[in-house]
Amino acid sequence: MKSLEPSLLAADPYCLAGQMDAAARGGARAWHLDIMDGHFVPNLSFGPHICEGICGHTEFPVTAHLMVQNPSKFVNLFLNAGATAVLVHTETEQDALPELLKTIRDAGAAPGIVLCPITPVEAVLPYLALVSRVLLMSVVPGHGGQALLPESYGRIRALRSLLDREAPTVSLMLDGGITLENAPNLLDAGVDVLVAGSAVFGAHDIEARCREFSGILEAAK
Ligand code: DX5
Ligand code: ZN
Repeated sequence: MKSLEPSLLAADPYCLAGQMDAAARGGARAWHLDIMDGHFVPNLSFGPHICEGICGHTEFPVTAHLMVQNPSKFVNLFLNAGATAVLVHTETEQDALPELLKTIRDAGAAPGIVLCPITPVEAVLPYLALVSRVLLMSVVPGHGGQALLPESYGRIRALRSLLDREAPTVSLMLDGGITLENAPNLLDAGVDVLVAGSAVFGAHDIEARCREFSGILEAAK
């Protein structure tokens, strides 16, 4: 199932609800929330209370993408805030990750693992039995509005064949620098879920932009 997950980091915080409604009218059916701690990445974003507010006002799934140095301090906070999926980076607290992924699953949420652009795709292998999704970063994490890294296409294909071989039910998400122009080739290379921020919320007409993405996703089925 190919789908779009708009990243709320790019939305105008002053009129977040209105922009989410516009994206939903255009076909968006899930939300991506980037959680940044100023340590793992050089930026700060949303806390659990914002996540709780958003989860309280939407019927759609909310993914918490934890870009934090010590996810073991934050996983339960975002589960309690209502996140329906929680993604942790392979580059953090490796010893604690298997337990954290089980905690997410046991809480009834979807566990996922994330790869930074410099991390070999094989780094997901120890966790595949514990996750329902793998997120591949196609930009260096920490900011929206960056250009997609060209090496991402090769990494998508490598991860796609690894997942098809080792864990065919695990979905491949891509995050960073996605546009209407590069989306068809990214889906063709093997992406299941497109996480897009500025390409959605930076559009003059957010609803129309999501309809355009929905058309691309439909064509890729
Ligand atoms: C970056 C975040 C992305 C980002 C995507 O660290 O993980 O989710 O918000 O934004 P765009 O689509 O603008 O690159
Ligand atoms: Zn993200």
